[in-house]
Amino acid sequence: MIQRPISLYALCGSQRQASTSRRLLEALQLACPEGITIAICDLIGDLPIFNPDNEGERTPAVVERFAAEIRKADGLIVSCPEYAHGIPGGFKNALDWLVSRDEVPFKPLMFAHASHRGDLVLAQLTDVLQTMSLHIVEDAFLRLPVAGKSDKAQAAMLLEARESGLLSASLNRFRRAIAAGA
Ligand SMILES: Cc1cc2nc3c(=O)[nH]c(=O)nc-3n(C[C@H](O)[C@H](O)[C@H](O)COP(=O)(O)O)c2cc1C
Repeated sequence: MIQRPISLYALCGSQRQASTSRRLLEALQLACPEGITIAICDLIGDLPIFNPDNEGERTPAVVERFAAEIRKADGLIVSCPEYAHGIPGGFKNALDWLVSRDEVPFKPLMFAHASHRGDLVLAQLTDVLQTMSLHIVEDAFLRLPVAGKSDKAQAAMLLEARESGLLSASLNRFRRAIAAGA
Protein backbone atom coordinates (compact mmCIF):
# COMPACT_ATOMS: atom_id res chain seq x y z
CA MET A 1 0.00 0.00 0.00
CA ILE A 2 1.32 3.45 -0.93
CA GLN A 3 1.30 5.75 2.06
CA ARG A 4 1.39 9.51 1.78
CA PRO A 5 4.11 11.29 3.78
CA ILE A 6 2.93 12.53 7.16
CA SER A 7 4.29 15.19 9.44
CA LEU A 8 3.99 14.97 13.20
CA TYR A 9 4.33 17.73 15.77
CA ALA A 10 5.83 16.71 19.12
CA LEU A 11 4.92 18.47 22.36
CA CYS A 12 7.21 18.10 25.33
CA GLY A 13 5.79 18.68 28.81
CA SER A 14 9.19 19.42 30.34
CA GLN A 15 11.15 22.64 29.88
CA ARG A 16 14.30 21.12 31.42
CA GLN A 17 17.40 21.29 29.29
CA ALA A 18 18.29 17.66 30.04
CA SER A 19 14.68 16.50 29.80
CA THR A 20 14.30 12.76 29.29
CA SER A 21 10.87 13.36 27.75
CA ARG A 22 12.51 15.54 25.11
CA ARG A 23 15.30 13.07 24.62
CA LEU A 24 12.77 10.39 23.80
CA LEU A 25 11.18 12.71 21.23
CA GLU A 26 14.59 13.34 19.69
CA ALA A 27 15.18 9.58 19.49
CA LEU A 28 11.83 9.19 17.73
CA GLN A 29 12.91 11.89 15.27
CA LEU A 30 16.01 9.85 14.44
CA ALA A 31 13.96 6.64 14.16
CA CYS A 32 11.39 8.02 11.73
CA PRO A 33 10.54 5.52 8.98
CA GLU A 34 10.57 6.90 5.44
CA GLY A 35 7.63 9.20 4.86
CA ILE A 36 7.29 10.34 8.48
CA THR A 37 8.81 13.56 9.82
CA ILE A 38 8.67 14.93 13.36
CA ALA A 39 9.14 18.57 14.37
CA ILE A 40 9.58 19.21 18.09
CA CYS A 41 7.72 22.25 19.44
CA ASP A 42 9.92 24.90 21.03
CA LEU A 43 7.14 27.39 21.78
CA ILE A 44 5.56 26.02 24.96
CA GLY A 45 7.94 27.87 27.29
CA ASP A 46 7.21 31.16 25.49
CA LEU A 47 3.43 31.06 25.78
CA PRO A 48 1.94 33.65 28.13
CA ILE A 49 -0.40 32.51 30.88
CA PHE A 50 -3.73 31.65 29.33
CA ASN A 51 -6.45 34.24 29.73
CA PRO A 52 -9.75 33.91 27.84
CA ASP A 53 -9.82 37.72 27.59
CA ASN A 54 -6.85 37.38 25.23
CA GLU A 55 -8.47 35.05 22.71
CA GLY A 56 -9.90 36.04 19.33
CA GLU A 57 -8.44 39.27 17.94
CA ARG A 58 -6.25 39.67 21.02
CA THR A 59 -4.57 36.26 20.65
CA PRO A 60 -0.80 36.65 21.15
CA ALA A 61 1.31 36.04 18.03
CA VAL A 62 3.21 33.18 19.68
CA VAL A 63 -0.08 31.39 20.39
CA GLU A 64 -1.11 31.81 16.74
CA ARG A 65 2.24 30.34 15.67
CA PHE A 66 1.77 27.40 18.05
CA ALA A 67 -1.79 26.80 16.82
CA ALA A 68 -0.70 27.02 13.17
CA GLU A 69 1.93 24.30 13.71
CA ILE A 70 -0.71 22.10 15.33
CA ARG A 71 -3.14 22.73 12.47
CA LYS A 72 -0.70 21.65 9.77
CA ALA A 73 0.43 18.48 11.57
CA ASP A 74 -1.17 15.14 10.68
CA GLY A 75 -0.79 14.05 14.28
CA LEU A 76 0.68 15.03 17.63
CA ILE A 77 3.11 13.23 19.92
CA VAL A 78 2.98 14.11 23.61
CA SER A 79 5.83 13.33 25.97
CA CYS A 80 5.13 14.71 29.42
CA PRO A 81 6.49 14.06 32.91
CA GLU A 82 4.36 13.90 36.05
CA TYR A 83 4.62 16.81 38.50
CA ALA A 84 2.94 16.49 41.91
CA HIS A 85 0.68 13.72 40.63
CA GLY A 86 -0.48 15.86 37.74
CA ILE A 87 0.22 17.75 34.52
CA PRO A 88 3.10 20.29 34.66
CA GLY A 89 1.59 23.79 34.78
CA GLY A 90 3.38 25.06 31.69
CA PHE A 91 2.08 22.18 29.62
CA LYS A 92 -1.49 22.53 30.87
CA ASN A 93 -1.22 26.24 30.02
CA ALA A 94 -0.31 25.34 26.43
CA LEU A 95 -3.31 23.01 26.22
CA ASP A 96 -5.62 25.66 27.69
CA TRP A 97 -4.78 28.00 24.79
CA LEU A 98 -6.10 25.33 22.40
CA VAL A 99 -9.35 24.46 24.17
CA SER A 100 -11.67 26.91 22.42
CA ARG A 101 -9.96 26.78 19.04
CA ASP A 102 -10.63 24.48 16.10
CA GLU A 103 -7.13 23.04 15.52
CA VAL A 104 -7.29 20.07 17.86
CA PRO A 105 -10.69 18.33 17.62
CA PHE A 106 -10.19 14.83 16.12
CA LYS A 107 -6.43 15.37 15.73
CA PRO A 108 -4.70 11.99 16.24
CA LEU A 109 -2.28 11.88 19.18
CA MET A 110 0.13 9.34 20.59
CA PHE A 111 1.90 9.30 23.93
CA ALA A 112 5.64 8.68 24.22
CA HIS A 113 6.36 8.24 27.91
CA ALA A 114 9.93 8.35 29.22
CA SER A 115 9.37 6.96 32.72
CA HIS A 116 8.30 3.75 34.44
CA ARG A 117 6.31 6.07 36.71
CA GLY A 118 3.82 8.81 35.88
CA ASP A 119 0.65 6.78 35.36
CA LEU A 120 -1.32 9.54 37.07
CA VAL A 121 -0.24 12.15 34.54
CA LEU A 122 -1.02 9.78 31.69
CA ALA A 123 -4.53 9.28 33.08
CA GLN A 124 -5.04 13.01 33.60
CA LEU A 125 -3.72 13.89 30.15
CA THR A 126 -6.00 11.28 28.61
CA ASP A 127 -8.98 12.84 30.36
CA VAL A 128 -8.02 16.41 29.41
CA LEU A 129 -7.13 15.62 25.79
CA GLN A 130 -10.26 13.55 25.25
CA THR A 131 -12.30 16.41 26.72
CA MET A 132 -10.65 18.57 24.05
CA SER A 133 -11.79 15.95 21.47
CA LEU A 134 -8.35 14.79 20.45
CA HIS A 135 -8.16 11.22 19.19
CA ILE A 136 -5.70 9.27 21.34
CA VAL A 137 -4.24 6.31 19.44
CA GLU A 138 -3.68 3.80 22.22
CA ASP A 139 -2.16 1.26 19.88
CA ALA A 140 0.79 3.60 19.25
CA PHE A 141 1.55 4.18 22.97
CA LEU A 142 5.28 4.05 23.61
CA ARG A 143 6.90 3.71 27.03
CA LEU A 144 10.66 3.78 27.32
CA PRO A 145 11.73 4.27 30.95
CA VAL A 146 14.90 6.31 30.49
CA ALA A 147 14.08 8.74 33.33
CA GLY A 148 16.32 8.42 36.35
CA LYS A 149 19.08 6.65 34.41
CA SER A 150 22.58 8.00 33.85
CA ASP A 151 23.26 9.91 30.68
CA LYS A 152 25.21 6.95 29.30
CA ALA A 153 22.51 4.43 30.20
CA GLN A 154 19.86 6.66 28.59
CA ALA A 155 21.87 6.89 25.38
CA ALA A 156 22.37 3.11 25.28
CA MET A 157 18.68 2.44 25.91
CA LEU A 158 17.55 4.88 23.24
CA LEU A 159 19.99 3.47 20.71
CA GLU A 160 18.85 -0.08 21.44
CA ALA A 161 15.21 1.01 21.08
CA ARG A 162 16.03 2.57 17.75
CA GLU A 163 18.02 -0.34 16.42
CA SER A 164 15.50 -2.95 17.56
CA GLY A 165 12.74 -1.14 15.68
CA LEU A 166 10.71 -0.43 18.83
CA LEU A 167 10.48 3.29 18.10
CA SER A 168 9.70 3.00 14.41
CA ALA A 169 7.08 0.31 15.13
CA SER A 170 5.16 2.76 17.31
CA LEU A 171 5.39 5.43 14.64
CA ASN A 172 4.17 2.99 12.00
CA ARG A 173 1.19 2.02 14.16
CA PHE A 174 0.44 5.72 14.58
CA ARG A 175 0.69 6.30 10.84
CA ARG A 176 -1.69 3.41 10.14
CA ALA A 177 -4.23 4.85 12.58
CA ILE A 178 -3.90 8.29 10.96
CA ALA A 179 -4.35 6.78 7.49
CA ALA A 180 -7.37 4.76 8.64
CA GLY A 181 -9.03 7.87 10.01
CA ALA A 182 -8.23 10.04 7.00
C1 LIG B 1 8.32 19.55 40.58
C2 LIG B 1 8.41 18.07 40.30
C3 LIG B 1 7.40 17.23 40.74
C4 LIG B 1 7.45 15.86 40.48
N1 LIG B 1 6.41 15.05 40.86
C5 LIG B 1 6.40 13.75 40.51
C6 LIG B 1 5.28 12.92 40.80
O1 LIG B 1 4.30 13.34 41.38
N2 LIG B 1 5.32 11.62 40.40
C7 LIG B 1 6.39 11.10 39.71
O2 LIG B 1 6.36 9.94 39.33
N3 LIG B 1 7.47 11.87 39.43
C8 LIG B 1 7.48 13.17 39.80
N4 LIG B 1 8.55 13.97 39.47
C9 LIG B 1 9.66 13.37 38.74
C10 LIG B 1 9.54 13.64 37.24
O3 LIG B 1 8.30 13.24 36.74
C11 LIG B 1 10.63 12.86 36.53
O4 LIG B 1 11.87 13.28 37.03
C12 LIG B 1 10.56 13.04 35.04
O5 LIG B 1 11.35 12.08 34.47
C13 LIG B 1 11.08 14.40 34.60
O6 LIG B 1 10.90 14.50 33.21
P1 LIG B 1 11.99 15.23 32.30
O7 LIG B 1 13.26 14.44 32.43
O8 LIG B 1 11.42 15.17 30.93
O9 LIG B 1 12.15 16.62 32.81
C14 LIG B 1 8.55 15.33 39.78
C15 LIG B 1 9.58 16.20 39.36
C16 LIG B 1 9.51 17.53 39.61
C17 LIG B 1 10.61 18.45 39.11
